[in-house]
Amino acid sequence: MFWEAKDLNINIEPLLNVSSADCVRLHKEGFLHAWSESEFETLLSSANITADGVFLSQSKRLIGYVLSRRVLDEAEILTIVMDQKYRNKKLATSLLQFHLESLIKQAIKRLFLEVAETNQAARKLYEGLDFSIIGERQGYYRSENGERLKAYVMSKNL
Ligand SMILES: CC(C)(COP(=O)(O)OP(=O)(O)OC[C@H]1O[C@@H](n2cnc3c(N)ncnc32)[C@H](O)[C@@H]1OP(=O)(O)O)[C@@H](O)C(=O)NCCC(=O)NCCS
Repeated sequence: MFWEAKDLNINIEPLLNVSSADCVRLHKEGFLHAWSESEFETLLSSANITADGVFLSQSKRLIGYVLSRRVLDEAEILTIVMDQKYRNKKLATSLLQFHLESLIKQAIKRLFLEVAETNQAARKLYEGLDFSIIGERQGYYRSENGERLKAYVMSKNL
C-alpha cells in the first residue's frame, strides 16, 4: 500500500528486515515499560506473529508498527505505536486497516485487544475501526504516577 500526504510519502507493508533496535526506539516513545531488543527479536521471528509497519518512502525509516499474535482463527494485537512526530495524521488508522487485511488473508475471523481507559487516542483509533468493548479488566495497567487503571477488552469480527 502506498499512502501519500502533502509533504509525507509513506509505505505500509509487512515488518520484514527491521532491526529490533528501531522497534525498541519507537516502543520507548509510546509505552512506560518498553520491550527489550531480545523480546522484539523473539516476537519478530515467531511464526504466529503478524507484524506490519509504516515507513517513510525515501529514507525507509520505520515510523510505526503493529504486532498481533494469531491462535487458530483468532488474533490479539500485542502492540501498536506511532512515532510521536507522525501522530494524529491518520497513519495508525491506515496501518490498522492494512493489518486487518493481512489478518483476513490469514483466515483470522476475530481480533482482540486491550486498551487503558485513559488512552483516548487509542480508544478513538479502535472505535473508528468499529471495535466494540466486550469486557473490562480492573487495575490492569499502572499509570505514570502509580495509579491503577482499568483496561477495556475490545474485539472486532473480521
Ligand atoms: C494510539 C496511537 C497508535 C494512534 O496513532 P495516530 O497515528 O496518532 O492515530 P490516528 O491519527 O490514526 O488517529 C486515530 C484517532 O485517534 C484520534 N487521536 C489521535 N491522537 C489523539 C489524542 N492525542 N487525543 C485524542 N484523540 C486522538 C484521532 O483524532 C482519530 O480519531 P478520529 O478518527 O475520530 O478523528 C498513537 O497515539 C501512539 O503511538 N500512542 C502511544 C502507544 C499507544 O498508546 N498504543 C496503543 C496501546 S492500546
